[in-house]
Amino acid sequence: MTELPRKVAVIGAGEIGCGWAALCASAGWPVTVFDASARSLEHAGTEVPRRARALVALERATQGIVERGLLEFQQGRSLLQTVKDADWVIEAVPEDLLTKQKLFDAIDQVAGPETLVSSSSSGLVPSDIFARCRRQERCLVTHPLNPPELIPLVEVVPSSHTGATWVTRAHDYLQALGRVPIVIRKAVPGYVAGRVAAAMWRECVDLVLTGVIDVDGLDRAVSLGPALGWAAAGPHLTYHLAAGEGGVTLFLQRLLASFEAWWTGLATWNRLEPEQQRALTQAIERAYKGKLGALGEARDRRLAVLLRALEAARTA
Ligand SMILES: NC(=O)c1ccc[n+]([C@@H]2O[C@H](COP(=O)([O-])OP(=O)(O)OC[C@H]3O[C@@H](n4cnc5c(N)ncnc54)[C@H](O)[C@@H]3O)[C@@H](O)[C@H]2O)c1
Repeated sequence: MTELPRKVAVIGAGEIGCGWAALCASAGWPVTVFDASARSLEHAGTEVPRRARALVALERATQGIVERGLLEFQQGRSLLQTVKDADWVIEAVPEDLLTKQKLFDAIDQVAGPETLVSSSSSGLVPSDIFARCRRQERCLVTHPLNPPELIPLVEVVPSSHTGATWVTRAHDYLQALGRVPIVIRKAVPGYVAGRVAAAMWRECVDLVLTGVIDVDGLDRAVSLGPALGWAAAGPHLTYHLAAGEGGVTLFLQRLLASFEAWWTGLATWNRLEPEQQRALTQAIERAYKGKLGALGEARDRRLAVLLRALEAARTA
């Protein structure tokens, strides 16, 4: 059994870094964050405790454990001081290959030989991200979904250089944090979650921009329709259950021709022109007028309730 990390280092204290830090602190783990920007680092000093404590209110963490973790939450003074005695280094800097490569070069030089090194990249290929590291066997991607302290899925993406024991260790750490790690076999750009999201979102944007539906209607149609079904059963099981005893064989007989007709008409563009970006932004801002903080809190409350219900159904 993998020993729990004595210290986690999170590099990059933005949206995702603060989420990872809050998650680790909420499990009672000592975590230190470092950011190249003094302002971001200062913000993390209040944001991480706020997000960790919010998990208590959402019944996703226990107060005593969160407070114990927060006692050992620190803001690092330098990359070296943050990384040098960490058992796990989590990178969460912007999605820019060169920035990540330079950072991992530096991390590789100061991290101890037994340190697990992971990137939060949304879709860059790990062999590119870690190209400058000498010790690529301990490097892999652990891609969370936003917000990382609430959504359990984490895609674990090894490169061809990653050692199996390091994949196991990442898997064990993530499970100990209450995550659901899924190991991706082939490191394709965007991995699995990003590719599915990108395909879905292009069609959603297209339906709004071509006037088929407005933003509010589209969001409700997806979250109360396919997304609700997919939360209970993924897309393949959903269709396997959609033709009674005939299963997916009968489903294909009945509906494949329709799907094929729709597939030929789906959006295939791969650029959003500036005027389309403006139209989309205006439509979304018109639909959601409230303050982003309040909208996010309401979303997190719904997420926590859904997670509790799904967990209860799994154990029932
Ligand atoms: N936001 C999301 O929804 C989401 C979801 C999953 C994964 N990701 C991935 O997580 C990573 C971080 O994304 P984010 O949304 O948190 O970005 P962000 O812009 O909110 O935060 C990035 C932070 O990194 C800091 N930084 C930049 N260069 C640095 C360096 N060399 N050393 C230390 N700190 C540095 C910045 O000051 C900033 O505070 C990206 O790879 C992104 O693709 C994002």
